[in-house]
Amino acid sequence: MKFSKKESKTLQRIIRWRRDVRGNNFLPKKVKQKELNTILSAALHAPSVGYSQPWRFLIINKDSTKNKIHTLFTQQFKKSQAKFHDKPLYSTLKLEGIKEAPINIAVLYKKPTKPILGQTFMKQSGEYSVVCAIENMWLVARSLNLGMGWVSILKPKKVKKILGISNEYKLVGYLCLGHTKHSLKTPELKKLGWEKKKNIKRCLL
Ligand SMILES: Cc1cc2nc3c(=O)[nH]c(=O)nc-3n(C[C@H](O)[C@H](O)[C@H](O)COP(=O)(O)O)c2cc1C
Repeated sequence: MKFSKKESKTLQRIIRWRRDVRGNNFLPKKVKQKELNTILSAALHAPSVGYSQPWRFLIINKDSTKNKIHTLFTQQFKKSQAKFHDKPLYSTLKLEGIKEAPINIAVLYKKPTKPILGQTFMKQSGEYSVVCAIENMWLVARSLNLGMGWVSILKPKKVKKILGISNEYKLVGYLCLGHTKHSLKTPELKKLGWEKKKNIKRCLL
């Protein structure tokens, strides 16, 4: 299989136009089952240590469950504000879209029950594999003109309790998925002056 220059450019454009989407940008429009299947299927094509495929997904679309997770977020967000007392901008940021997104997805890591090729010394490579799956989902969602947001201001143990998830699993990511009002070219945190873009020179050691 050889890809054309045009296809490569398209992939690069999708990567550049991927954004973290929050509640200020989600539309209450339903996501089609076919679109969700395409996104999950992309996750299953991610690389994984020892081909362990340790990702598991819990799809959340009930308002009652989303409300519980949102309450949790609000508590944790309030607590986190103390860390940024010297940056008043923090309290004004919208950092999730739990209620606004029609679909939430809890992405879990299934802890291994046998030795995994490649994971002997870098235990976290199983969780890294799940992150690869999330990036695939993010990009394919964007290619379908859907937006995704990652919410990490949540205590994993409390999220798992609400969702009834056992100790065999670790929460890696809590995602919000839906149609968007706008496609944003610039990361919101850059636009708001929270952080600057690092160029390649700054990233090479
Ligand atoms: C592991 C991870 C956790 C994140 N958690 C949050 C979060 O809790 N709330 C939020 O608004 N954005 C979260 N983000 C999104 C980042 O803020 C975002 O990726 C970054 O600002 C760059 O913007 P962009 O994704 O639109 O390019 C998270 C991203 C990653 C990779």
